[in-house]
Amino acid sequence: MKRIGILTAGGDTPALNATIHGAVERANELNLEVIGLIKGFNSLYNERLPHVPLNPLFQEIPELDPANGGTILGSSRDYVDPDNKEQLDIIEKRLEQLGIEGLICIGGDGTLNGLQPLADRLPVVLAPKTIDNDVIGTDLTFGFQSAVEVATEALDRVHSTAESHGRALVVEVMGRNAGWIALRAGVAGGADVILLPEIPFEIDRVVEQVEWRRSLGRRCTILCVAEGAAPVGGEQIVHALDPTSPDPVKLGGVGAWVAAQIDARSEVEARAVTLGHTQRGGSPVPGDRVLGT
Ligand code: F6P
Repeated sequence: MKRIGILTAGGDTPALNATIHGAVERANELNLEVIGLIKGFNSLYNERLPHVPLNPLFQEIPELDPANGGTILGSSRDYVDPDNKEQLDIIEKRLEQLGIEGLICIGGDGTLNGLQPLADRLPVVLAPKTIDNDVIGTDLTFGFQSAVEVATEALDRVHSTAESHGRALVVEVMGRNAGWIALRAGVAGGADVILLPEIPFEIDRVVEQVEWRRSLGRRCTILCVAEGAAPVGGEQIVHALDPTSPDPVKLGGVGAWVAAQIDARSEVEARAVTLGHTQRGGSPVPGDRVLGT
């Protein structure tokens, strides 16, 4: 019987267990043994981290349910460094020790960047996941639809309170360099202004839009802003730097900045809400469960 490994790497999405579940189901049909590797690539450098058989015990892992968010395998942002030969050798040795002949990596662009040298050594498949929907060569990543659902619901919900108070309400959604969540949720949730990382915005025009709507007697203005959006000539707003992480820059704060600008430059009172990791948590929507499967 052939044995393959599976791991989840990078930022999680609600669709990871659905994807592991789908892979294990197919492996069962193909009579492949599946080993779950813990915390992304960590268990390939670190012998102390366990690995778990996912079949034929599969039926006994109740958490491995397509309806469950998170990942039973855990994840981390420790990617393979394509230029670190020593690290690649350790990984290759560890895979050999575990008798793993092929690898399924459920990861995003960070994972993809490091995979080529590994793929030169054994068969590797990337299952493209990220809520940002920014993996090259794929239309829809596992988890994106669930994040859009959360963001759309938030936009729907802020409408009524914004109307009650005649406010502008800015909803900041995730999306570092790709505005897919903001665009999709913004359109679905009836946002009046959508700001994306791909298109630097003019803050004067944003304020004008809010004022224009007020002059028409509109009861509120809803703005959907991607965390990576930046004004023309300006920089993305960094919430925190984590030097220990391979992804050290944590964005956040542009929504609050836009709201402060509206407050300061218009007659309209503004508030901002940041959805953050709520977009990555909870149960996946049916579209993601089916895609993962
Ligand atoms: O890459 C996906 C993502 O959710 C981004 O949208 C966001 O900027 C980032 O991860 C947050 O990362 P962390 O989980 O490290 O806070």
